[in-house]
Amino acid sequence: MNVYKIWGLRKIWLTFENFFFNFKYKSILGNKVNIYGSPYVFIPKNASAKFGKNVTLISSSYFSEPGVNHEVMIRLLNENAKLTIGNNVGISGGGVCVQEEVVIGNEVMFGANAFVTDTDFHPVAPENRRFSKENVKSKKVQIDDNVFIGMNTVILKGVHIGKNSIIAAGSVVVKDVPAIQIWGGNPAKFLREL
Ligand SMILES: CC(C)(COP(=O)(O)OP(=O)(O)OC[C@H]1O[C@@H](n2cnc3c(N)ncnc32)[C@H](O)[C@@H]1OP(=O)(O)O)[C@@H](O)C(=O)NCCC(=O)NCCS
Repeated sequence: MNVYKIWGLRKIWLTFENFFFNFKYKSILGNKVNIYGSPYVFIPKNASAKFGKNVTLISSSYFSEPGVNHEVMIRLLNENAKLTIGNNVGISGGGVCVQEEVVIGNEVMFGANAFVTDTDFHPVAPENRRFSKENVKSKKVQIDDNVFIGMNTVILKGVHIGKNSIIAAGSVVVKDVPAIQIWGGNPAKFLREL
């Protein structure tokens, strides 16, 4: 049973969810966050996750036009990890996993299920790949202001996406994208100037 579908309960439940989420996280994230559905948030004790004003996290398909595959995942993987999210950013499903640092500017739009990570999570060397935490490649990711990330996109380690650019739906981004361009595909390549 999806509580959001029940007329009259939706608003009460949203108010309740937002109250408890912000009661728990506002002092950690720095600002109040608008949540629709319940995101997963994992922030180790000394890690830093700073959210700007008016950030919206949509974790329920009821509130996302294409629907979401899972709740928003905000996961900082160790106590030195740093996540910065600017003002007026919207994330629907998908999310962000941080080993070192991810910086997301102002007005950045994440299409449904778009996912960003600065790490491979596992080493590329074959020995003990399943469990080893040695030689896991990670590199800072930066997404500049007003970038529009199409739904179901994956942005991988080391990528810098310049201001106002667009990433087409379903892309896998492994290289830097200059400002004011559209890139797309797997691996994402230049499509056109804006
Ligand atoms: C990127 C996008 C905005 C481009 O739209 P557009 O300006 O109308 O671009 P066009 O359809 O003219 O396509 C331009 C080129 O990009 C290519 N292209 C468009 N979308 C692509 C995609 N998702 N992956 C790969 N290539 C793509 C086209 O094939 C075309 O290539 P060509 O010049 O070789 O023929 C649009 O395709 C898109 O992906 N929108 C995102 C929708 C979305 O996810 N919204 C959020 C929902 S929550």
